[in-house]
Amino acid sequence: MFAVQDIQTNLPTLQSMYKIHFAPLQGYTEDAYRRLHQIYFGGVATYTTPFVRLEHGVVRSKDMRDVRPEFNEHVNVVPQIIANGGGEMRILVDYLKSLGYRRIDVNAGCPFPLQTRHGRGSGLLASPDKLRELVEVMNCNSELVFSVKMRLGLDDVNQWQSCISLINDMPLCHVTMHPRIATQQYKGEVNMEAFDEFLSVCKHPVMYNGDICSVEEINRLENRYGERLLGVMIGRGLLARPSLAQEYISGTKLSPDQLVMKIKQMHNALLEHYRRIIPGEAQQLLKLRSFWDYMEPTIGRKSWKKIIKAGNMKNYLSRVEELSVV
Ligand SMILES: Cc1cc2nc3c(=O)[nH]c(=O)nc-3n(C[C@H](O)[C@H](O)[C@H](O)COP(=O)(O)O)c2cc1C
Repeated sequence: MFAVQDIQTNLPTLQSMYKIHFAPLQGYTEDAYRRLHQIYFGGVATYTTPFVRLEHGVVRSKDMRDVRPEFNEHVNVVPQIIANGGGEMRILVDYLKSLGYRRIDVNAGCPFPLQTRHGRGSGLLASPDKLRELVEVMNCNSELVFSVKMRLGLDDVNQWQSCISLINDMPLCHVTMHPRIATQQYKGEVNMEAFDEFLSVCKHPVMYNGDICSVEEINRLENRYGERLLGVMIGRGLLARPSLAQEYISGTKLSPDQLVMKIKQMHNALLEHYRRIIPGEAQQLLKLRSFWDYMEPTIGRKSWKKIIKAGNMKNYLSRVEELSVV
């Protein structure tokens, strides 16, 4: 996974054990998923929400539900916002403040053209003036604690260099860096040379994010960076193996049987939840299928395909019931 040579030892040292943070994944890590992941797996220090955004000038209603405190009780949630400048950011910040949040993550990394075209997400990295507006909003809200989640650039691997002084001027608790550019979306190599350069000039604590799928990979990062990294943020690796953070923290890998049992328990709790809030089996099935989207490496291609391709709830549930890890 990493382009630059790593030191090859796999044992984490207790002093520098990283905190693991769950990355936001729109359509996956919604409120119920976060709550149930914490109950059945845990090991995660914070869960950043998928971005909250404006639609026609007001906070999108679906996003309002996701960050409502009553749906996030007992979960260490960091709400994330996506804005194209100071105007949108102010509305979003005021909304989250009204709910009682004091901690906000700002998205400067989303690669989707629907957002970047309007100057949001990694679109901000190509518009230093807009980033400057964000600094102003942060400075006007000094009672809040901000972080930024960003990429190397929109379409140029060096774009971060023209933003770094503004990023350094922001009052941040940390920056999360996903070392790709937006045009790569989530594919191709992560650029660890550029990440190292960024790390050497960013004055804020830095969290690494990108392509972590195993405890060994977290250990490699730890051996390579030690305390120079604040921690790691993991997205698809945790969707694929929800036990990953807990296994890293505890130093103990779940047996295949234990893992399948817990995955099924979490799934069944999610099923109950969707049955309560979504009318109609077809819609419930649609939501439930996404639980398995990234799990092929964990449950094996055959079981995975059977689950993903189940055409109705009855078949689907019996295929989930039959599941065993390869
Ligand atoms: C389907 C999907 C939805 C995502 N939604 C968000 C989001 O709402 N906010 C955000 O900052 N990043 C989002 N991301 C990016 C992830 O948080 C993360 O940075 C990316 O997946 C790389 O980390 P990973 O390799 O550990 O998954 C999304 C990624 C995917 C694949």
